[in-house]
Amino acid sequence: MKKLLTMALALVLVLSCVTVFASCTGGNGDEKGTTADTNAATDTTQDTDAPAEKKVLKMATNAYFKPYEYYEGEKIIGIDAEIAQAIADKLGMTLEIVDMEFDTIITAVNAGSVDFGMAGMTVTEDRLKEVDFTVSYAKGVQAIIVKEDSPITSDSDLFAEGATWKAGVQQGTTGDTYASDDLGEDRVTRYNNGNNAVLALLGGSVDCVIIDNEPAKALVAANEGLKILETPYADEDYAICVKKGNTELLEQINNAIVELIGDGTIDSIIAKYIK
Ligand code: ARG
Repeated sequence: MKKLLTMALALVLVLSCVTVFASCTGGNGDEKGTTADTNAATDTTQDTDAPAEKKVLKMATNAYFKPYEYYEGEKIIGIDAEIAQAIADKLGMTLEIVDMEFDTIITAVNAGSVDFGMAGMTVTEDRLKEVDFTVSYAKGVQAIIVKEDSPITSDSDLFAEGATWKAGVQQGTTGDTYASDDLGEDRVTRYNNGNNAVLALLGGSVDCVIIDNEPAKALVAANEGLKILETPYADEDYAICVKKGNTELLEQINNAIVELIGDGTIDSIIAKYIK
């Protein structure tokens, strides 16, 4: 029951960033945060010939997705936050990260209240109808989390004819789409983040959680009695989305990503979070 997303965008710039171990320490969070600014670069000197104030580049994310974006105190850190910072640096802009529900990111991008969305977001055919995606900067895999003693031992158990297992997902994610397609809506419960889905699994209201592999590892590390099934569920490409038709920003970000891949920056950011 494996689906492969074959996205043309992935052709050129595919990073092999799905490595074996997660960088796991705690990392959960169950409430929506407020705007956080990871870039404290306010070092504008008082020189008379100082350059004009930097333009702000606003990124929408959902910061309950360790190791891609998560809170450390008030600050949003993680792979996406650092790559976005590196992109903003290249563009000579000040990065501002806005935390919101995952399923509102594309709306915010299209409304223009933010400049781009970056949230371990998978490139999908459906999303491509709504937004433009940059080249891919990372790979993702959908994974299935179950309780350690679960009778579900593989994805074929979960998807077996006549099975009634229930899945928890983060609302609006690809995990949500796959689970809804494969299990049927009535066997899927949507939560506002992966942590709440995992709490539901621990509490027995669902039998598994379908979520991206690295966040799955972080969640399993942070909560006792859980494991990830060995059968991965779907391969994906992560990319940044911009408002449809915003080719100027798209090109700027694409150029930055290509450079950051080329000089090893993105690899080293990923390696910092995924051991
Ligand atoms: N990769 C999945 C998707 O694009 C999940 C992303 C969830 N990201 C987040 N920051 N909560 O649908």
